[in-house]
Amino acid sequence: MQINSNYLNLHDSYLFSTIARKVSEYKSKYPDKDIIRLGIGDVTLPLCEAVVNAMQAAVSEMGTQEGFKGYGPEQGYDFLRSAVKDYYKNRGVVLEENEVFISDGAKSDLGNILDIFGLENTVLIPDPVYPVYVDTNIMAGRKIIYMNANEENGFLPMPDLDVKADIIYLCSPNNPTGAVYNKDQLKAWVDYALSNKVVILFDAAYEAFIQDKELPRSIYEIDGAKQCAIEFCSLSKTAGFTGTRCGYTIVPHELVYENTSLNKLWLRRQTTKFNGVPYIIQRGAEAVFTEEGQKQIKENINYYLENAKIISETLSDLGIWFVGGKNSPYIWLKCPNNMTSWEFFDYLLENANVVGTPGEGFGKNGEGFFRLTCFGKREDTITAMRRISRIKFE
Ligand SMILES: Cc1ncc(COP(=O)(O)O)c(C=O)c1O
Repeated sequence: MQINSNYLNLHDSYLFSTIARKVSEYKSKYPDKDIIRLGIGDVTLPLCEAVVNAMQAAVSEMGTQEGFKGYGPEQGYDFLRSAVKDYYKNRGVVLEENEVFISDGAKSDLGNILDIFGLENTVLIPDPVYPVYVDTNIMAGRKIIYMNANEENGFLPMPDLDVKADIIYLCSPNNPTGAVYNKDQLKAWVDYALSNKVVILFDAAYEAFIQDKELPRSIYEIDGAKQCAIEFCSLSKTAGFTGTRCGYTIVPHELVYENTSLNKLWLRRQTTKFNGVPYIIQRGAEAVFTEEGQKQIKENINYYLENAKIISETLSDLGIWFVGGKNSPYIWLKCPNNMTSWEFFDYLLENANVVGTPGEGFGKNGEGFFRLTCFGKREDTITAMRRISRIKFE
């Protein structure tokens, strides 16, 4: 018996455990200090009423002889696939229902999609980025190359014609940087992918945070994208489903490589290895796409975006460089006075009792940067910014 030795090549992630250790050490030294966490990547507002009602009704239905459901379709129930299809249609993107695959969240699908690609492919991943892209490819033993996201390119790397890759990851709005590609930039990526016959894995987990009408919320708003991109979406941050678990992945029929439809391969993969998302959850997810549900989730998103605005305004007043915070829940700031990410972490913890996430944990280009999120409570966000405004950065 041999293990998958690729796992031995994974780097241990000390990011969140180190944060937890540092905070608990500080707390045991200063038990009276009120520590505010603005580093969390999880939502804090509860599920909206429309979702709760729909799930409760589905629970009751499951308790009746007529309404009981056993195994459901692996790709998701038609009612939810159709709701997702209509959601795209409202933004001018026409999909077929069987191009929509319901999932238990974007993270699983981002990892699982790799099953349908050969191991010989080279993947191109931005640095810094959501660590799942890197780790899932290390597990599979694929060659990874990186593209630099940095202050010069506004943390939005563009195609480099000299770089040869087969699979490209793009994440917009980005975690951890909050940067969002505009239509021209995404078009450059789509054109590059089409002319090099590569596939783009487009992570749109934070699309619902985009407020600017000019910014694309789906890569399919760009002509030609259906021939080169798979899109991953999630209700986690959109509708507070981080613990409830539901997302969707779009695999267009036009995606054909080596005379083979990726939609067919993904369907085969899913029907073999996945048994679908629970009926009750899918009914809750369906409610997100109703008029009432959309109104209610938008109230929550607006609450978070207002927090982001409060953070952004404080940083602007302090003259601290940052991206994100406008069409995204993340604010990515440059550590003042050339501090390293961890130096700034300690500085903020000690001087403002505020906890954020050191950028270094998301890739080498994250060194010297720091992530704050808007998922905290309003009062905490205001207090944290007041404290940060008072500290001296000389
Ligand atoms: C960029 C990005 N993609 C995907 C996910 C995973 O989302 P889900 O909760 O749907 O698995 C996250 C979660 O933090 C994320 O930041």
